Amino acid sequence: MSDGFKALWVTENGAGNFQQAIVSRKIADLPDNSLLIKVEYSSLNYKDALSAHGNPGVTRTYPHTPGIDAAGVVVSDSSNRFKPGEQVVVTGYDLGMNTAGGLAEYIRVPSEWAIACPQGLTLREAMIYGTAGLTAALCISKLIRMGARPEDGEVAVSGATGGVGSMVVAMLSKLGFSVAAITGKLESSTRLSRLGAQKVIDRASLDELASKAMAKPQWAHAVDCLGGDYMFTLVKSLRYGGSVAACGLAASPTFKANVFPFILRNVNLLGVDSVELPLAEKQAAWDLLAEQYRPVELESIAEQITLAQVPHYLELMINGQSQGRYLVRLGA
Ligand SMILES: NC(=O)c1ccc[n+]([C@@H]2O[C@H](COP(=O)([O-])OP(=O)(O)OC[C@H]3O[C@@H](n4cnc5c(N)ncnc54)[C@H](OP(=O)(O)O)[C@@H]3O)[C@@H](O)[C@H]2O)c1
Repeated sequence: MSDGFKALWVTENGAGNFQQAIVSRKIADLPDNSLLIKVEYSSLNYKDALSAHGNPGVTRTYPHTPGIDAAGVVVSDSSNRFKPGEQVVVTGYDLGMNTAGGLAEYIRVPSEWAIACPQGLTLREAMIYGTAGLTAALCISKLIRMGARPEDGEVAVSGATGGVGSMVVAMLSKLGFSVAAITGKLESSTRLSRLGAQKVIDRASLDELASKAMAKPQWAHAVDCLGGDYMFTLVKSLRYGGSVAACGLAASPTFKANVFPFILRNVNLLGVDSVELPLAEKQAAWDLLAEQYRPVELESIAEQITLAQVPHYLELMINGQSQGRYLVRLGA
């Protein structure tokens, strides 16, 4: 094991300017946790873009290495939960927020943050999913626990070309649901149809509904990645008894709301968190990803990039211009 390794390094240059570079770091500089992992793959998530651009709600102190996902091989574990050579996956908790993250060739984390790489998945496939896939599975299983069935009718998915959105479209389609993909990128309609969307809807068509108290009931259920008024527009456009699984804030963390959809249409607004979720529940979601929810064309959802390309793709992501999942190959 060489002592120097490559990592994304975000520095603050005063006056709110943040810069990204690939630097060489030392194992000894990593936080003093039990589990040292040689990272084989990571992936990009919206939160990484926020961290790399200085969002204080994600990362408080710089310099910092973002990366909320990592999959790799155990080098050592002083807690004795894992053996050297075991393949493990870490997503969420504080990884990449204020703990040096997975956009690096090594990480050192508490062993309680890791799970063994799920049976039936390679490390590469685990990171094609990453936090986005895990979140998609959590949204879908929450809707299903609320009683959602394919015969209920169309399920709307907002932010559909994004990492979480693409995964939700592909998994719902695999499970036999009819999907209406809502996107700001109509030019990506063919890609969304290939993932399994039956219908592609222009996100702008939702704008006129933002000021209305209620909207025509359209969708049986929905998964929202955008937050803001888009999220509540989905709530007020549900058919009687439907549910929205809300997982994101790509448009805004705040929204205007009223109680009418809840008391007149019996609808449900469901929160979804993939970060602090207890490990046993994460494990159960990973098991769904390995088999039942696995999209037919998992590979086609992701594009593989190098660590050197990460700053460019994080820039696209913060501007809402990224598409699908970005798998980062480390240590190749
Ligand atoms: N709850 C959790 O545990 C959890 C886990 C993972 C992610 N998230 C959140 O889920 C959201 C999606 O994450 P992601 O990794 O999929 O991000 P992403 O890959 O960047 O996708 C976000 C998508 O949202 C749309 N979008 C972006 N900016 C927008 C804006 N200003 N207004 C309206 N639409 C916009 C775009 O899709 P279209 O062009 O197709 O509309 C974009 O592709 C983020 O807010 C993220 O923080 C939450």
